[in-house]
Amino acid sequence: MTKQQVRDQLNRPLRDIRISVIDRCNFRCQYCMPAELFGPDFTFLPRSELLSYEEIHRLASIFISLGVEKIRLTGGEPLMRKDLHILINMLSKIEGLKDIALTTNGVMLPKHAEQLKAAGLKRVNISLDSLNDELFGEINGRNVGVGPVLKGIEAAKKAGLGIKINMVVKKGLNDTEVIPMAKFCKENDLELRYIEFMDVGSTNGWKMDDVVTKKQIYEMLKEHFEFEPVEAAYYGEVAKRYRYKGTNTDVGFITSVSESFCSTCTRARLSANGQIFTCLFNGNGHDIKEFMRSGVSDKEIEQRIKDIWNHRQDRYSDERTEETRKARKKIEMSYIGG
Ligand code: GTP
Ligand code: 5AD
Ligand code: SF4
Ligand code: SF4
Repeated sequence: MTKQQVRDQLNRPLRDIRISVIDRCNFRCQYCMPAELFGPDFTFLPRSELLSYEEIHRLASIFISLGVEKIRLTGGEPLMRKDLHILINMLSKIEGLKDIALTTNGVMLPKHAEQLKAAGLKRVNISLDSLNDELFGEINGRNVGVGPVLKGIEAAKKAGLGIKINMVVKKGLNDTEVIPMAKFCKENDLELRYIEFMDVGSTNGWKMDDVVTKKQIYEMLKEHFEFEPVEAAYYGEVAKRYRYKGTNTDVGFITSVSESFCSTCTRARLSANGQIFTCLFNGNGHDIKEFMRSGVSDKEIEQRIKDIWNHRQDRYSDERTEETRKARKKIEMSYIGG
């Protein structure tokens, strides 16, 4: 298949698409869906507002013809969407797709890992912010201990899925877990990525003072470990990686706040309710669901996506200041999946 190459205003190609399949989650992480705001009365999207698997497959095929090589499925918690393996199976058959991955909190993996792998899923990024049951229960807002996530990691390993561990670090909350998490992941040959707490959406009470930067984490780690730098695995890789000296185990940093990576950002996002976002920090997306449902052809959808990408000039993290942050209305994480 010959692929087209679309470029945005900053000459960035379109290479990956993050697809949020559901806005619901079984956790209420403080930094993402705080329980006070996402309570029993919160209205989630009705089924009809979500894209169907056929619609996602149709859009993904068009995105791939425009240069996309990697699909990541996100949520909320993507495994809360029924029969996700069916979607993965449909997507994995599209010619030209090189990588298909999932970002999950891991607790439903024991039930689904084998089926996901068999359907064509290559790897999972599993969130884990602490190894301390009490603290982890407090962070996830549901009093879930670490055990269910560790079981999820085991299940993913057993199924032969690639695994990365994501840890969002927030000052005064879980910075004491930086070293225990490093030791645990190194011992178990798991790639851990430390994520700087980001000002996604407008419900997580973000303050610059709460961010623990890559530099600060690296300083903590250097007291215990020796590292060597690692080349990026692909153009525009989100994490900066290092390797524990004398091992094959990597550790990464996702530095959206202290060292932005917008200049190589090749990601489009498809939200749970069928809008295209050209940046994680956009307020409004570009409708594609209603357009598609109006009976247009693939060519017309393709043209719309091309136009959206051609006009793109987002570089929010490059430009983040108190003023730009406050002035902006931003989509919530649970609709856009990070
Ligand atoms: P890999 O394909 O394994 O490299 O995954 P990834 O790091 O791109 O995806 P994942 O869902 O694991 O995201 C890890 C963290 O990076 C999350 O906090 C995301 O919100 C953040 N992230 C991913 N892409 C971007 C981006 O384009 N901009 C910003 N600011 N953050 C991003
Ligand atoms: N800042 C940084 N990372 C976040 N995530 C969720 N909310 C935030 C935030 N405010 C992470 C999750 C998950 C990934 C999709 O995004 O922990 O690993
Ligand atoms: Fe759910 Fe992930 Fe958000 Fe936590 S970070 S509430 S697990 S979607
Ligand atoms: Fe891409 Fe926006 Fe993140 Fe910058 S802030 S890397 S443009 S998603």
